[in-house]
Formats: sequence, C-alpha cells, structure tokens
Amino acid sequence: MCGIVGYIGAKQAAPILLDGLAKLEYRGYDSAGIAVLNEQAVGVTKTKGRLKALSDLLDGGKKAAGSVGIGHTRWATHGAPSDVNSHPHTNAAGTLAIVHNGSIENYMRIKVFLQEKGYQFVSETDTEVIAHLADYFYEGDLVDMVVKLTEKLEGSYALGILSSEHPDELIAVRKESPLIVGLGDGENYIASDIPAILQYTRKVYLLENGEIARLTKDGITVYDANKNVVPKEVFEVDWDVSAAEKGGYEHFMFKEIMEEPEAIHKTITPIIKEGLLKFGRVPDRVAIVACGSAYHVGVVGKYVIEKLAGIPVEVDIASEFRYRDPIITDNTLVVIISQSGETADTLAALREAKKRGGRILGIVNVVGSSIARESDEVLYTLAGPEIAVATTKAYATQLSAIYLLGLSLAKAEGRLSAADEKIYCDALERMPELIAGLLEQKDVLAQYAKQYYTAKNVFFIGRGLDYAVALEGSLKLKEISYIHSEAYGAGELKHGTISLIEEGTLVVALATQDLLFDKMVSNIKEVKARGAVVLSVAEEGNTEIEECSDVVLYIPKNNQLFTPSLTVVLLQLLAYYIAGEKGCDIDKPRNLAKSVTVE
Ligand code: F6R
Repeated sequence: MCGIVGYIGAKQAAPILLDGLAKLEYRGYDSAGIAVLNEQAVGVTKTKGRLKALSDLLDGGKKAAGSVGIGHTRWATHGAPSDVNSHPHTNAAGTLAIVHNGSIENYMRIKVFLQEKGYQFVSETDTEVIAHLADYFYEGDLVDMVVKLTEKLEGSYALGILSSEHPDELIAVRKESPLIVGLGDGENYIASDIPAILQYTRKVYLLENGEIARLTKDGITVYDANKNVVPKEVFEVDWDVSAAEKGGYEHFMFKEIMEEPEAIHKTITPIIKEGLLKFGRVPDRVAIVACGSAYHVGVVGKYVIEKLAGIPVEVDIASEFRYRDPIITDNTLVVIISQSGETADTLAALREAKKRGGRILGIVNVVGSSIARESDEVLYTLAGPEIAVATTKAYATQLSAIYLLGLSLAKAEGRLSAADEKIYCDALERMPELIAGLLEQKDVLAQYAKQYYTAKNVFFIGRGLDYAVALEGSLKLKEISYIHSEAYGAGELKHGTISLIEEGTLVVALATQDLLFDKMVSNIKEVKARGAVVLSVAEEGNTEIEECSDVVLYIPKNNQLFTPSLTVVLLQLLAYYIAGEKGCDIDKPRNLAKSVTVE
C-alpha cells in the first residue's frame, strides 16, 4: 500500500526521502517518486518499479538538490503501475506537487468539472485531480487552498503538498488515511507510518481526520477544517529503531516468527497481572469482524468464547459484514481485530457496527491507528512493528488477546472460578516457553520443505480449533509460496473436495484435539486411501497417528483450547521454508500489500 514521507529543514531532502521510503517498502508498492524544491522550482523524479530504480535515477539523491521535499511509494488503484501514474503529481505549471494515499470517490466528477475549465490531464489517477483542483483553488495561501480542497474531496486521503511559491512550507492533511508529523530540531517531517522517520525523531503529532498541518523548518501549526489552530500533544514513540529492521535474519518474516514468544509474553503479562478485562454489562452476543489472518483469529475466538463464556459469537469477514445489514444491538460486543488498525473494510465495519449501537472493542497492534482511536476500548497486541507482508507475530498476539477476551467474558458471566482462572492463565503464561521450544525444531521443518516444495495443491484439514488453524496455515502457504492450497473442515472434505485428492497430493492434517482425534484419524485414512501424502500435527504422546501419516509433527501438551498458538508456529515455518525453496520474495509476496487501505 502507498507510503508518504516529507521533509523540511536545512539538510538535503532527497536522501532523507529515499531513506524514509525504504522504511515503508514493507507496505508493498509498484512505483515511487519524489518532489524537491530547488531554487523556487519543483523538481519531480518518479518511476515504475522498485526504489532502487528511483535512487539510481537520482544518483542516490544527489541529482535533486534542495531541502524541502515529499516522497511516495504507490500501490496502483486508479490506473496501472506506470511512470506517469506514479506520484508526486503536479499542476500544469509545475509549481505545486502532491503525494496522496487513499482513494478519492468523486474524482471523476471533479475531473469533468476541471476539464470544462480547460485543465488537461496526463495520468489516470485520482491524485492528479487533486493537484489540478488545488491549482484551481489556490489564491495565495496553501492552508486556505487545502481547506477548500477538503470541502470538495470525498473519500480517503493523506496528502503531502509543496509549492514553489511557498518554498519555506510543507503542508499535510488527512482524512481516513493515516498521516503523522515528526518533530525535529530545525527540521520537521511528515510520514504515513512511524518507521519512515523513526531514525530522525521519536516525537510525533498524530493528525486526526480533517486536520491540516503547516510545517516550516522551525515550527508546526495544526489547523482544523475551519482553519482554527488545534493544540496538539506530542506522542513519544517508544519502539526501538532496530525493532523495525531485520536483526540479522534473512527475512523479516523469519525474524518475526522468532519474536513470537516475546510478543505473546508482552501482550498477555500486563492483563494477567492486572486482572482480566471488566465489562460494565455482560454482552449477550459477540460479533467478531476482521479480514484475512485477523479473521482467522476470529474463527478461533468463536470456539473459545462460546466454550468458555457460553455467549453466542458470530464471525464475519469485514467486507461482507459492512454490506449485509448486520444485527447489532446495544448489548452486542463488536470485536474488531486488526494489526495495522487501518484496514479499510475493517474500519468501515467498525463504523457500521457503531452506528447500529454496538460497543466496540478493538484488538489492534498499531497504537494511534484509526481503528484504535475509533474503538470504545482497545486491547493492544504488543507485537511491535510487523514488516513482512504475511502476518505471523501479530497473528500470534491476536490469538493471545482473543484467549484473554474469552477468559474475561467467562469470568464476567460467572463461569470461571478463581481456581480455573489460575489454571488457564498459567497455561497461557507457559505459551512463550513452549513456542520457543517449537522454534528450535525449525531445521526439521526446513527438511520437510525440501521434500514438499514442488507440490501443486495442498489441503489443510482439521476439526474444531484445528479447522480454524488450518485456515491460517493454508493462507500462509499460498500467499508466500504461490502454491494453491485450501483449508477444509476434515469432515466436510467428502462432500465434494475429496475428488481432488490423487496420488501424491499433500494433505496437512491437524489432529490436536483429544475429543476429535478418532474422527480425524478416520478422515486421514480417507485421504490416505486415495493416495494422499499426509503430514499430521498431533499432541505429544498421540503416536497412534503415525500409522496413517507419512510424517508427524508434535506439539507439546498444554491446555487444549490453546493449541492453535502452537500448531500455527509449525505451519508458519513450513510455509516460510517452502517459499524459500521456491525462491519466492518472502517478505513482499506478489500482488499483496501490508496495509490494505482501499476497499
Ligand atoms: C495475511 C495478512 C492479511 C491481514 C489482513 C488484515 O498474512 O497479513 O490477511 O491479516 O489484511 O490486516 P490487518 O490485521 O492489518 O487489519
């Protein structure tokens, strides 16, 4: 997804912009560009492709002298990835340059309006429409111009704007798309994400919807949509810079899998220490809404909450929920799960649920993100920044958070005795150590990956909680290794899909639940009989499964409700090593973006 960085100060802007954009590469992009003010003129350089191509064009930044600039990485939405569609976009005179994240919904209408006034367009983007509209509104003051822009633009945007007529200013404004302002000493920054500027400053302003910031090198003024000055509080970022780097591993994904024990420990400890979550009124229903892997956490949540608390739970994909007239009452707890806190469909679902009177609990990783800010309460996952596009440690912490929620609801319902609470919390607290033990088996997974990486189709099967984890294991494999895979409830396979099982088809069978173990063994035998190669996952001690499997991986015994946290580690590693064997771009899989801020 698109990234923005901007700089105003005394140093050369271009190297800082290139550096900041590099920190945002993880968001996924297909083209990049910068605009730098030089001797009262705006110099724009942009290109399709990787940042390296942009950096080469600029000789690492040397070819764009000037100390005010904006940069952008684009992930195509309006018009294909191309040089001309890349940002920044300018007005016809080339005096004004704009970078944009988000999507302008009424851009076609505005385009027609501007064309009637004689404006000509060179790109297919909605952003170029903003540049010309800005030109149309400009009467000498950039903030006045932006106020008028915001009255006209519908949709989502984070904008960075510079003008050769105001060589000492950099303008930022946002609605729905994230944008922050970084405070330096004699220099200031804008960025769509904190890692872009973290090496320069830890002090930031989080811009709210509709806020406009005017930056000079010595100061920042923030205005609301009516140009009233808004006092802002400085937000101190307490992440470690090195946390956003690979830390010696070949891939961010691997580093992030290795960080799971610590991330889970950080997430659960404060809540277990301070007592579980409290609810003024115990909800009579829970609706969990999320996308992708976060949705898979919701599927685990349904099993866990219904089992522990006896409260009915619905789980929805956000893009379906928001358009299906969902039934939400003022006693529905709506749980919105999101790593980035910016996923467009998830945010829209939150707003829909809120409109219908639901109480919103956000399970969010990024502090200060839109979903965190718009939730009534937030249970933060403390996974730290996740850079690899495929989520691993954030998913792991989301699972822990959903367990804590299940226990909290059970307690509020009077279904969890103090003794049971202790048993469950002890089991949760053991998790980091048990996961660390599983991670030591990584070389075994690397070996199996060598055996299986040529597979064309893989099926992940399981029952109950194992089915929920199968969904995630399958997604992980397909998104990074491009091997087609599907997850099935093991009992459902025979209702059609089993016809796809043939000699040599790889089936990953999850059989960690005692209650369902015998059923799983039968299902494994069914696929074995049709020629499948079966890799099973079971709890230590359940060696009976070896008879019907080609390979068995064991997870250590812990409370059966928490097995997903263990099983998924093996599946993440398997996907990682298989993608590695295939030579895939593991941290940046094709067609994917880290933060999906368009519908
Ligand atoms: C898959 C993955 C995605 C995200 C989904 C939601 O590895 O990362 O499926 O889980 O796009 O993103 P967030 O959690 O940021 O709302």
